Amino acid sequence: MTQSSIMIRRARTEDIDAIVQITKDNEHFWSSQVDGAEALARIIAREDNIILVSVDEGNITGFLIGTWDGARAFIHKLSVSPAIQHKGTGRKLVAAGIEEFKKKGAPTVGVSAADGTRTDEEDSTVFWKKVGFEYIPARLMINFTIWGEDEEDHGQIKDDEPMNKEDES
Ligand SMILES: CC(C)(COP(=O)(O)OP(=O)(O)OC[C@H]1O[C@@H](n2cnc3c(N)ncnc32)[C@H](O)[C@@H]1OP(=O)(O)O)[C@@H](O)C(=O)NCCC(=O)NCCS
Repeated sequence: MTQSSIMIRRARTEDIDAIVQITKDNEHFWSSQVDGAEALARIIAREDNIILVSVDEGNITGFLIGTWDGARAFIHKLSVSPAIQHKGTGRKLVAAGIEEFKKKGAPTVGVSAADGTRTDEEDSTVFWKKVGFEYIPARLMINFTIWGEDEEDHGQIKDDEPMNKEDES
């Protein structure tokens, strides 16, 4: 693998298995509802999302997932195959992602980066600084209650369901 053999393109549905495998290889497979094949298919189908893959000699070697809400652009996930990390793939994926966001009109791009404070995760902030991001003090918080007890119905609000049921009188 050389720097010039790395090609970045938009992800296609046939790339999904490789993307899931890279997530698992990096031990970042959190939940099938977020990281699984069906979730990735939904991400690919939505135009405002960015999902890019790096390809080297025909193999998918990494990916980047980001979203654009019309005002803010955000990178949610970046992952490179463990075997080829530190060879420039992450940097190329981020540069291509930023270009995509610029085309959409994004004034800034943020990222949720693991900072190593959790013992089972490495500090990726050094990488993000190297590719042009600045640290701002913030914590990522998640409300897990939407999952409920039934994993199949993970809290998705149905079209005809009021979003503020408890306020109804
Ligand atoms: C973080 C990650 C995406 C970086 O991808 P990569 O292809 O290895 O990165 P690059 O080779 O493009 O690195 C760019 C620069 O950052 C440095 N770098 C990369 N990962 C680093 C790390 N974990 N710690 C310190 N420096 C790092 C590289 O040495 C390189 O520096 P240089 O330009 O001075 O030589 C990759 O290591 C990865 O997938 N890690 C596991 C998943 C993860 O942590 N994702 C980020 C959370 S969103």
